[in-house]
Amino acid sequence: MGVTFSQFFSPRASLTEQNLPSQKGKVFIVTGGYSGVGYELVTVLFQAGGKSVVHDTSSAGQLEYLPLELDDLSPIKASAEAFKAKEPILDVLWNNAGVSLPPLGSVSKHGHELQMFLASELARKVGLQGILNVVQNPGNLKTNLLRHAPVWMRLAASPLLHNAKQGAYTELWAGLSPKLTMDTNGGYVIPWGKVHRSPRQDLLDALMREEEGGTGEAGKFREWCQQQTAEYV
Ligand SMILES: NC(=O)c1ccc[n+]([C@@H]2O[C@H](COP(=O)([O-])OP(=O)(O)OC[C@H]3O[C@@H](n4cnc5c(N)ncnc54)[C@H](OP(=O)(O)O)[C@@H]3O)[C@@H](O)[C@H]2O)c1
Repeated sequence: MGVTFSQFFSPRASLTEQNLPSQKGKVFIVTGGYSGVGYELVTVLFQAGGKSVVHDTSSAGQLEYLPLELDDLSPIKASAEAFKAKEPILDVLWNNAGVSLPPLGSVSKHGHELQMFLASELARKVGLQGILNVVQNPGNLKTNLLRHAPVWMRLAASPLLHNAKQGAYTELWAGLSPKLTMDTNGGYVIPWGKVHRSPRQDLLDALMREEEGGTGEAGKFREWCQQQTAEYV
């Protein structure tokens, strides 16, 4: 509860455009990079010289647009291949695109619920290749995310919301902070850039496999997702 409350009133961000080192030569993907938090993050990366795939080039960084509809599995492989054909390396992928409170009954092109979550299992898998994966809550922010929420909810939430730029700082830290190492693989980053030290035990149990003393729910969900996506990868 304390941690939840503290996320509304977090201390100052430690990694911002003021102290971010040059990102020249680095390549990033930011999904949903043209709205809200993603837009602010791309702006910071661009100003620091990074190449973000999300048109236009200038004296600072570089921006490219990669068509990608994440609620349709069919074209995703082609998008990934198009990226690989252009870039030999990807430094950081921010899976930033997302929805909240979509209209009741909203599903993907394949009938899946739109707000699914797989971070811990991804960390297990890619961690073996030395790729660090964290999940993050960017904060409570003024963006287009609540476009489907009722007006009363938007009005009630408004005084508690921060500028979208603050959320970009959380994501910046999650992607580029030198404080994150493989020891924090699978960790949960909270505003405006720190690791949540005491996640709820029932959630930790669900993330752990049965042989580790957990309930194995996340693993079962990953297996189901693999079956659902097998023909598209
Ligand atoms: N704002 C908050 O308080 C808050 C709190 C917790 C977590 N978050 C998370 O932060 C992330 C960024 O959200 P935001 O607040 O910046 O909201 P936003 O302004 O609505 O931006 C979300 C972005 O995701 C894109 N997107 C959504 N569904 C997509 C799909 N199926 N395929 C491709 N792109 C898709 C949107 O594109 P279109 O505009 O074209 O749909 C938009 O560019 C989300 O994952 C959200 O869940 C936000």
